[in-house]
Amino acid sequence: MKTIITGDRPTGRLHLGHYFGSLENRVKMQYDYDTYILIADVQALTDNFENPEKVRNNVHELVLDYLAAGIDPKHTHIYIQSYIPEVAELTVYFSNLVTVSRLYRNPTTKHEVGQKTELFGTEGESITYGFLGYPVSQAADITALDGDIVPVGEDQVPHIEQTREIVRKFNAIYGPTFKEPEAVLSSNPRIKGLDGNDKMGKSLGNAIYLADDEEAITKKVMGAITDPNKIKKDDPANPEICMVYYYHKLLKNPNLDTVCKECKAGCRGCVACKRELIQLMLAFLKPIQEKRKYYEDHPEEVKKILEEGTEAARIRAKEVMKRVRKNMKLDYFE
Ligand code: TRP
Repeated sequence: MKTIITGDRPTGRLHLGHYFGSLENRVKMQYDYDTYILIADVQALTDNFENPEKVRNNVHELVLDYLAAGIDPKHTHIYIQSYIPEVAELTVYFSNLVTVSRLYRNPTTKHEVGQKTELFGTEGESITYGFLGYPVSQAADITALDGDIVPVGEDQVPHIEQTREIVRKFNAIYGPTFKEPEAVLSSNPRIKGLDGNDKMGKSLGNAIYLADDEEAITKKVMGAITDPNKIKKDDPANPEICMVYYYHKLLKNPNLDTVCKECKAGCRGCVACKRELIQLMLAFLKPIQEKRKYYEDHPEEVKKILEEGTEAARIRAKEVMKRVRKNMKLDYFE
């Protein structure tokens, strides 16, 4: 059975962009692969080292969101990155194999460096060693557990490419040790926001969280962008440029054809159409929120899931590190 490694930084609650962009896919794949999902607390600290509270609190939220969305602890090991010291060790060995200029050339990191430089001033002042090197530690996350497949969003593909380079270099120097992991993109790599932005994101302020209640959802859907040419309730409109229609489609409204026809014919007002979407969204989120509530009420069960997942990951990483130390001639006491 092939191994999946994937994960998220614990920096906020999960939203529909995460659900359709990655969670749904992970839930489906967990039955056919040996699946490990890491809570990347060490990586979250590269950006949030001054806010350990934030990272800590979001670890809990993230696990609840995973379980609520259908990640099944019988099939998936959910584990905490910082509890696998082997990953930190492997990061150090890998760091010799990556040049600083290669790190700066990683397109995702480059974009993030650009953002930070804008916010905090010159590069040298704002870019830490830990931040620049996080793709190296991500390579260690994947290889320390012998990962084959990494299901991720587009922005993570450069990191997997960098992992593959590190693996090739490591194998060339120290002998065959790791396999090259593959990135697998989910079918919906990017979910648009109700505001028409081509991405749903926390920082964009357009996110619909898995844990949102009726009031929050109503407010967000009512503010959604529709066809700007439709002024009166019975003007015909173009559903293809309407975010409400986009979400009817995304949430698989069984009456999608009717929605489309009525919109084009001008016999469907936007307010009624939004109300229908709110109901659809609430029905979609209901089982997710019920599961979340169950786990919120059973914190000891959640703790056990995390402990067992972390233990399983650690056992695997220890095995891999025996091989690494042997091939690197660091196995002094064996
Ligand atoms: N970089 C990923 C993110 O920001 C999180 C992550 C850390 C990850 N280590 C990983 C993803 C290993 C896949 C595999 O979402």
